[in-house]
Formats: sequence, C-alpha cells, structure tokens
Amino acid sequence: MNVLILGSGGLLGKYLSGIFEKSNRVFKPSHSELNILNYEEFHSFIKKNKIEVCINCAGLTNIYYCEKHPDEALKVNSYSPAEMAKISKEFGCKFIHLSTGFVFNGEKKTEYVESDLPEPKTVYGFSKYKGEILILENNPDSLIIRTDEIFGYSNFTPGHNVIGFTIKKILEGKDVSLYNITTSPTYALDLSLKIEEILRKKTNFSGILHLVNKGFVSYIDVAKFIKDFLKKDVKINVRNDELIEKIPKNCALKSEKLENLGIEIMPTFEDALKRSIKEFL
Ligand SMILES: NC(=O)c1ccc[n+]([C@@H]2O[C@H](COP(=O)([O-])OP(=O)(O)OC[C@H]3O[C@@H](n4cnc5c(N)ncnc54)[C@H](OP(=O)(O)O)[C@@H]3O)[C@@H](O)[C@H]2O)c1
Repeated sequence: MNVLILGSGGLLGKYLSGIFEKSNRVFKPSHSELNILNYEEFHSFIKKNKIEVCINCAGLTNIYYCEKHPDEALKVNSYSPAEMAKISKEFGCKFIHLSTGFVFNGEKKTEYVESDLPEPKTVYGFSKYKGEILILENNPDSLIIRTDEIFGYSNFTPGHNVIGFTIKKILEGKDVSLYNITTSPTYALDLSLKIEEILRKKTNFSGILHLVNKGFVSYIDVAKFIKDFLKKDVKINVRNDELIEKIPKNCALKSEKLENLGIEIMPTFEDALKRSIKEFL
C-alpha cells in the first residue's frame, strides 16, 4: 500500500514509520516538505503518489503553546485535518487521525470510553475535539484514534514525552517533578503495531476508537514504578503550574469497541514500560 505519514519526525510518527515501512511504500515528508496548512500541496501529493492511506500524526501538541496561540491551534489541529479528510475522500484514500483524552473534562473516576461526552477544558483539547467533529463531517469514513500520554525513545523536546523524559532523568539519578493526574501511558511502539493491525484486518473501520496500553495510573505512580524498576534513589515531586487548574485530572482511556472488532486490547502499561525502558539502556 502507498501510505503517507504526516508528522513522521514526531514521537509517534517515528515509530509508526518504522512499523509501516516493513510492508508498505511509505511517504514521510518533513514539516518543511509538506506543510499541512498548504491544502493545494496536500491535494497534489495524494494525487501524484496515489496515496491509499494517510495517517496524520502532525499537530500542535504543546499544551502551553496552544493556550497562547489558539488561532494557530485551530488551524493546525482542527481546520487542516478536516480539509485533508475531505481531500482524502476525493481520492478514495483512508484518512486516519490522532486525537487525545484531553477532549474530556477529566472529572470521571475511571477510564473514558468512546461513548463518553467530550468537554474540553484547554485550547489544545478544544482544537482536537473540533478537529474530530469536522473530520467526520467532511469524511465519515475517517478513523480517529484517541490515545493518551505517548512515550518512547524519541522526541525529547521539553514538555513532551513526559514519561520518556522521566525514564531518562531517573536513569541519570536526577529528581523528577510531575503532575499528579491520571493517565493511560501508551508506548508509541505498541500503538503503532495496533494501528497497523487494525488497518490490515479492519480496513473499513471508521469513527472514533480509543487505543491505549491497558490500565490507568497517576504520573507520580508511573515515576515510582520506573524508580523501583531501575532501583534508583531519586525524589519524585508533585508539579504545579499555571495550567494545573485547566488540565483534566483524568485523561485515562479504554475502548468499548475493540473487542467487538475482534482485535485484542494492547498489553498493560507496566509491561510496555519495562520494554520501553530497555531502549534507554
Ligand atoms: N504525545 C502524546 O502524549 C499524545 C497523546 C494523545 C494524542 N496525541 C496526538 O498524537 C499525534 C502525534 O503526537 P506526537 O506526540 O507524536 O506529536 P509530536 O512529537 O509533537 O510531533 C508532531 C509533528 O507534527 C509536525 N507538524 C507540526 N505542524 C505541522 C505542519 N503545519 N505541517 C506539517 N507538519 C507539522 C511537527 O514537525 P516540527 O517538529 O518540524 O514542527 C512534528 O513532526 C498528535 O495529533 C497528538 O495530538 C499525542
């Protein structure tokens, strides 16, 4: 298959490219080679390269930046994906888009499922939710994958890949500070493998799907798990800053659809963390 991966230089995009390259012809233009705000270029790229599947991992993912630049967040995370979904439909190309647990208000005490009602609190969450709505309006055959706190050995920009950073710092024997909020930590490798599997087995599946490693936990307890696993003597502090009031206290997800699709859920986050830590050693 001819597969286009947008945002291939990012945390998820790198793992996803590695998995899809094993058995597909993968196109992975950089941000400067194909800016997703340039719809004409996207249109001719899809046409010229006969793209059959487009996976959009490109986006503005820094929640602090989005809070200060709401118009740009809407352009990149809402309007552009919606336009790309429309263009994909024109060429019969499957459009797959990544979204987030930040679409929810965080007040639920357990994991959010697909039928829960979004109520975003941050600009980032709002821009991703609006993107979901517009994409499905423009192209109902699109698949929107909501995931949560992605980690892996990739993209160590500050404020990003929080768990990857935590592994790195604890390995160096440094103290860490994290929000005391709940998440479903998700290994970029496991997520990439699952996306490939779904696409291979359930090509026509569309709508919203939650994909995360199994379980939910606070960031503080993730750090404790890493500290104990690595047997390091470091301090784990609770972080607070200007966004703490807005950030959902619980972004954990699980899927109520996956089983019906006959697709196995992903391994537990503990199992995933242990495998990921090996990449750092
Ligand atoms: N990371 C998480 O924990 C998490 C959790 C839930 C959902 N998600 C979603 O999953 C997706 C992938 O996340 P990620 O963490 O892998 O993202 P990431 O590491 O921040 O990578 C985003 C990529 O998008 C590119 N990009 C930004 N603006 C672009 C534009 N206008 N045109 C083309 N490329 C552009 C960036 O390129 P430059 O770096 O060159 O700007 C970068 O390669 C995103 O949609 C995100 O919302 C992420």
